[in-house]
Amino acid sequence: MPADAQARIAIAVTGASGAIYATRTLAALLSRGVHVELVISEYGRRLLHDELGEAAHVERLLPFLTEKYGGDVRSGVLTVHSNKDLGARIASGSHGCRGMAIVPCSMKTLAGVAHGLSRNLVERAADVMLKERRTLVIVPRETPMSLPQLKNMVLCAEAGAMILPAMPAFYQRPKTLDDLADFMAGKILSALGFDHDLYPAWTGQVDREEP
Ligand SMILES: Cc1cc2nc3c(=O)[nH]c(=O)nc-3n(C[C@H](O)[C@H](O)[C@H](O)COP(=O)(O)O)c2cc1C
Repeated sequence: MPADAQARIAIAVTGASGAIYATRTLAALLSRGVHVELVISEYGRRLLHDELGEAAHVERLLPFLTEKYGGDVRSGVLTVHSNKDLGARIASGSHGCRGMAIVPCSMKTLAGVAHGLSRNLVERAADVMLKERRTLVIVPRETPMSLPQLKNMVLCAEAGAMILPAMPAFYQRPKTLDDLADFMAGKILSALGFDHDLYPAWTGQVDREEP
């Protein structure tokens, strides 16, 4: 049985650029045997389509992940919830979801979480994580950022969320977009409390191989 077969994690995908961060994170969790409770906003669906193509449509997401990341993703369970369904199990604190990541997180959803609006399932599930003092990882992407956006990040951090901006590093000498996505997904898995080997551990010095 995979290492984390009992764990349940909520993943929300919203309409900010960086759909590949979401798919890499989903694949890494599923490959560990995690039960992923997935909710995708309307603009999150559009981003999956616009950035990754027709094959990444939510209806075909598991085959897409299997094709791109390998058959291990079938070790986990993927449950997809409607963003309109405020009665879904992740809308309740009594459901044993141990953590959640919003990846990528739009500035609109960030604002909704910061102000506890619970207008849809993404915002409600995030609100549940905060009220239950569980792990909430927010992966915002926007540039530049306005003062309200910066303040919304502070509000979320003060409420207990981890702000994990979509800011891949370059000291590991990435060669492909997938290398950048691996780095971000690895950071998200670490924040959710999972071991991984998505990027090499920092050894104290950069590998001097020529770029
Ligand atoms: C192609 C595309 C890229 C976008 N990129 C971003 C982005 O990086 N950050 C952001 O905050 N909003 C971005 N937006 C705008 C959001 O999708 C928009 O504000 C939307 O209402 C967010 O709704 P949601 O949070 O429910 O997904 C983008 C929209 C499109 C169509």
